[in-house]
Amino acid sequence: MTDAPPAHSVEKFRDWRFGLFVHWGLYALPARHEWVKNYERLTDEDYQPYFDHFEPDLYDPRKWAAAAREAGMKYAVLTTKHHEGFCLWDSAVSDYTVAKTAWGKDLVGPFVEACRAEGLGVGFYHSLIDWHHPEFPIDLVHPQRDDEEAIAKAAGRDIQVYADYLHAQTRELLTNYGPVDIMWFDFSYPGRTYPDGRDGHGKGKDDWRSEELMAMVRELQPDILINDRLDIPGDFVTPEQYQPDGPMTRDGQPVLWEACQTLNGSWGYDRDNLDWKSPELLVKMLVDSVSKDGNLLLNVGPTGRGEFDPRALATLRSIGEWMRLHERSIRGARPSEHTPPADCRYTQKADRLYLHLLSWPMGHVHLPGLGGKVKYAQLLNDASEIKRIVNDPHQQAQNTTMSGVSPDVLTLKLPIQRPDVLVPVIELFL
Ligand code: GLC
Repeated sequence: MTDAPPAHSVEKFRDWRFGLFVHWGLYALPARHEWVKNYERLTDEDYQPYFDHFEPDLYDPRKWAAAAREAGMKYAVLTTKHHEGFCLWDSAVSDYTVAKTAWGKDLVGPFVEACRAEGLGVGFYHSLIDWHHPEFPIDLVHPQRDDEEAIAKAAGRDIQVYADYLHAQTRELLTNYGPVDIMWFDFSYPGRTYPDGRDGHGKGKDDWRSEELMAMVRELQPDILINDRLDIPGDFVTPEQYQPDGPMTRDGQPVLWEACQTLNGSWGYDRDNLDWKSPELLVKMLVDSVSKDGNLLLNVGPTGRGEFDPRALATLRSIGEWMRLHERSIRGARPSEHTPPADCRYTQKADRLYLHLLSWPMGHVHLPGLGGKVKYAQLLNDASEIKRIVNDPHQQAQNTTMSGVSPDVLTLKLPIQRPDVLVPVIELFL
């Protein structure tokens, strides 16, 4: 089994550029972050009402997939099980699944079918961590980490019994739902200690048997891409809730990467959260990622009824309007070797260079290194010409006359009025 994915999977993923992350589980009911069980040190009994009242009667993954497609997304990654341990499919090795709730119906299959119907790639997020499994040892991220009685009772737990369960469920997911494009494991924390230095019993590749698990994933799904959170190198790296300052590298070599980001800081539905990112900021993050040869995986946390909430839908619609006009500067685009001016990002596709203006200058923008190299320029949103200034490098600045610039600089004349789009883009024909 090769330890690398096929090149066509890598290029397909890079061309996608923009995907939907969906964090959905019992934590949608407390509706205050997917780590609520950890933050509030909830026991299984405290958490049981969410299992008992899980009834996603408005679940329609076709609506989710359509919203993603219309936002310009080309793939979607669903949490099959998050740290809480609840499984969104009828697992043969667990009763802590949707099949055993009053709702009873598989949630993963309809999601996969909806993604395929909308032309989206399919990814599974699967938590390595499990705060419900009886053999998952209590450690520094476990909800019962401070409960001495629970810790004493759990002393005999065998992580390898849990690892068998982890492997069995991974096998189910990659066997029962046809071709899967992405396996998104989360997360390893080997050697992590408490602030006072005590051993936190963190978990990593030996606990998960990561090499064995990765080999099984590749055997079941030869074209799949696997992320980097098994505590062994994966096929792509996953910067989370930050934007890298440049193309990501591993051991000094460029590496495939995907930034995963939230709309408001929470992955799970968080009803009272007001820290929403603007659509403009999110588009800038998408442009920034692509300019650095990365993807953006943007998360929505559906409600306990199974819907995307109105704020999420409005945000996706705004991004979709920008993508409707500017998709060709993103889809299949790669970084450019040209250096953009301040507050700008370049993306490039063959002989078309896209200048994304994160702020709108007054009157002109000067593009180093492009003097004499651009045949035509236009605003991408409406295909209106942007005039290239033919300048005399010896021109002295005189009142209203701008001084000449170096011949290797291309100066563009900009309208005073900024185009009414989230991020203006000028398409340069090289
Ligand atoms: C972190 C969080 C987890 C979330 C993941 C998404 O690992 O702990 O809740 O699912 O980020 O990347």
